[in-house]
Amino acid sequence: MKRKLLSVLLTGALAASMFVGCGTSTETTDTGAAGGDAATTTEGGSTAGGGTKVGVAMPTKDLQRWNQDGANMQSELEAAGYEVDLQYASNDVQTQVSQIENMINSGCDVLVVAAIEASSLGEAMDMAAEANIPVIAYDRLIMNTDAVSYYATFDNYKVGTVQGEYIEKELDLKNAKADGKKYTMEITAGDPGDNNAGFFYQGAIDVLQPYMDDGVIEVKSGQTEFSEVATAQWATETAQSRMENILSSYYADGTNLDICLCSNDSTALGVENALAANYKGDYPIVTGQDCDIENTKNMIAGKQSMSVFKDTRTLASQVVKMVGQILNGEEVDVNDTETYDNGNKVVESYLCDPVFADANNYKELLIDSGYYTEDQLK
Ligand code: BGC
Repeated sequence: MKRKLLSVLLTGALAASMFVGCGTSTETTDTGAAGGDAATTTEGGSTAGGGTKVGVAMPTKDLQRWNQDGANMQSELEAAGYEVDLQYASNDVQTQVSQIENMINSGCDVLVVAAIEASSLGEAMDMAAEANIPVIAYDRLIMNTDAVSYYATFDNYKVGTVQGEYIEKELDLKNAKADGKKYTMEITAGDPGDNNAGFFYQGAIDVLQPYMDDGVIEVKSGQTEFSEVATAQWATETAQSRMENILSSYYADGTNLDICLCSNDSTALGVENALAANYKGDYPIVTGQDCDIENTKNMIAGKQSMSVFKDTRTLASQVVKMVGQILNGEEVDVNDTETYDNGNKVVESYLCDPVFADANNYKELLIDSGYYTEDQLK
């Protein structure tokens, strides 16, 4: 596999404009976009070459957001005139490695990868580096390799901060000690194989730790370390069964659970299911992230307090722009050159802004913006 020369790309630019919207997808799986029509105008892909192929490796179709991410990436890349090879790997690391290797062998010019497991793509990344194929880590950083060229994501630490500050504000924690108030909390974090999970956890814990230290917040299970509260593969069922155990061990005697700090919506859903089945006390604050459809419905129904909206259209547009800039030899748009050290190097990153969402603003954020239709949330 040989990366096409820049001159060929530039000569192809004119031809590309004739092919806009006609890129061929070699996708082998149905993207099954769960969201609304998410295509937005692309910036920066204006000189895409006909026949220039972008491989997009997504983790799984099981979680709603990756379907949206994949569908957005495909439509935006195609609109910019690229061929797209979009693959989902059923959360199986070896499948994702093979898919990336196939993308390299079949002549992809750039790879966009949302890793299942941050540290398990070493060989595939070596192969990309040997073939001189730039790699953009999509949403999740790829660890321990020099081969990742750029990283585009949402500000992951800020996601956690937004969750922590919501809890702080809702319960007026700043005045709780003076008011003699005490709260109970349980924490559900994400997949330890996903580099983002630690950022989400830490962002929230940095806000809440002082209240845990001074006894305003008590975690009855005693499980506070990331390793104790992590949820393998972000699985709803795993989060649910862990919370069922916690509820029956520490809250079955009528003790109220006031706060369920959940890093994202798939884990929040598990916690909400556990609360519905096993909990009789006052309903707690439950945090989340992603504004998945089920969770947005739960916000409307009062079963989830908030979520953090990460508009996957924004991320897709940014990544398509970066793809264009890389291929055109232009300066690549980044806004963070310090935060994301993958063990081998600090990866230049573009961080999109996550936005607070709850039952009061979901209409404006999700429906008015065309992310979902009203019917999808019924
Ligand atoms: C993403 C979250 C998502 C989680 C589970 C993380 O890497 O940033 O948006 O909820 O994976 O898919």
